[in-house]
Amino acid sequence: MTRVDRRAVLGSLVHGTCALAALCAGCGPEWREATVLPLACGTTPGRPEDGWVEVKLADHLALLQPGGSAVVRVPEALLDVVLLHTTPGCYTAVWHICTHGDCHVAPVPGESLLECPCHGSRFGLDGQVLRGPATRPLQTFQAARVGNSVFIHRPL
Ligand code: FES
Repeated sequence: MTRVDRRAVLGSLVHGTCALAALCAGCGPEWREATVLPLACGTTPGRPEDGWVEVKLADHLALLQPGGSAVVRVPEALLDVVLLHTTPGCYTAVWHICTHGDCHVAPVPGESLLECPCHGSRFGLDGQVLRGPATRPLQTFQAARVGNSVFIHRPL
């Protein structure tokens, strides 16, 4: 499981969707382990026909804990992302393939960023380029947890 520094994550979130959850970062385990988490991240999943793809947490146990991440590939939805549990109950999905070439980016342990192993480009969790040679951002997707699943919005 990849760990992400909470303070760094809070500083880098751009969607502004995790503010409420960030306030609850110190909440007790009963909040974190609730079967249905409050939609504190500002996103309500829609229907599959509207591009919402379900990812079962049972298939990616690393995503249960804040700081965890997993590569999620759903070919039929043209989805290939790194899904990250940024703060309690908040998730973000970042495109997995580097915009500089054809390599797969991965979270850097202990830091709130993704790095490409091929030429060292770095991207924030918002997909923005932090260090080249890449010049174009990674696409990001809305993600929301409901029950034991995370739903990613991947409109086609
Ligand atoms: S392919 Fe990712 S930095 Fe070159």
